[in-house]
Amino acid sequence: MVGRHALDVEIGVRIPAGQQGYRKVTRDGSLMISSTEKNRRDSHQKKIEDLLDKYVIRDMNDWYNVGADLIITDPPFGIEFSGKNGNYHRNVNNVVDGYVEWGESEYDQKISQLLDVIHRNLKEEGQALIFSGWNNSYTIHNKILQHYGMTLQGKLYWVYNFAPACKKRIAHNVYEIYWVTKGKSWTFHNRCNTTHCQQGEPNLSVLLFKRDYKMNMPKYPTRLPLLLLQCLLEHFSSEGDLVFDPLGGSGMVGIAAHLLNRDFLVGDLNRNGKVVFKHLLHHYFAQREHLTSRSVSQLGIGFL
Ligand SMILES: C[S@@+](CC[C@H](N)C(=O)[O-])C[C@H]1O[C@@H](n2cnc3c(N)ncnc32)[C@H](O)[C@@H]1O
Repeated sequence: MVGRHALDVEIGVRIPAGQQGYRKVTRDGSLMISSTEKNRRDSHQKKIEDLLDKYVIRDMNDWYNVGADLIITDPPFGIEFSGKNGNYHRNVNNVVDGYVEWGESEYDQKISQLLDVIHRNLKEEGQALIFSGWNNSYTIHNKILQHYGMTLQGKLYWVYNFAPACKKRIAHNVYEIYWVTKGKSWTFHNRCNTTHCQQGEPNLSVLLFKRDYKMNMPKYPTRLPLLLLQCLLEHFSSEGDLVFDPLGGSGMVGIAAHLLNRDFLVGDLNRNGKVVFKHLLHHYFAQREHLTSRSVSQLGIGFL
């Protein structure tokens, strides 16, 4: 079950014990809410609604002049992927429908379009991080090299703990991330607050982050984990920057950006992506409220 009840349970479980003091029960047994509690809930609701407005159901080709400082985006795989394939270790009933895949024959053209979208929606000093599976890596690499006004600065590898179960051959547990810049300068911070820099050298070639799973919630097939995004955001952007993802899926790029005090804008053609985004917003807000005084970046290591 992935409806409203599941979401309520998720939030209910995490209400800090201290807040129970605000609650009174009337004679008929219903809950009386104090004005302080009501104001808190209203402002929480308002914040969620404002953030929901930053997720727009839109074709990537319809974005112009966003003026992003950083674009983080993960294009479809071009392998008839739906996220519901039987060889994935997951309950397909929790996976939402509507993922828009790109056909193999149109993949070149779609990547060219995506690079145009990136180029025209970045600030002059902006930059992009583009994810790729191994099978499309050469297409993305070549298209970046051919694209006017974009410079390929390097490649990062994300190593993760999840791959389809496959009897025929060993599975790949690595994604490539292309780092692309537009102008003559860009933002880079040498250290982040995740295990990447706290428990190792700040070497940007290999990033080791597990996928994080959420129980009793609708799932998006290819949701990126928060800590990986935290690492990328802290290295490649600053607080207050505008982060954009035209192929947003679950909107996880936006959520991570918001938790780290960046502004964001996310788009996708799949309306169900926004449904997952809403559930994730409630989830992370409840988690953050539970641990009020510490910042997300301090909590980053292994927490979220
Ligand atoms: C690999 S998924 C992105 C997952 C995302 N990074 C996350 O963390 O959930 C690629 C997304 O691109 C979307 N998509 C495909 N073609 C699109 C288009 N022309 N415009 C907007 N979104 C599109 C798909 O619906 C899918 O959600």
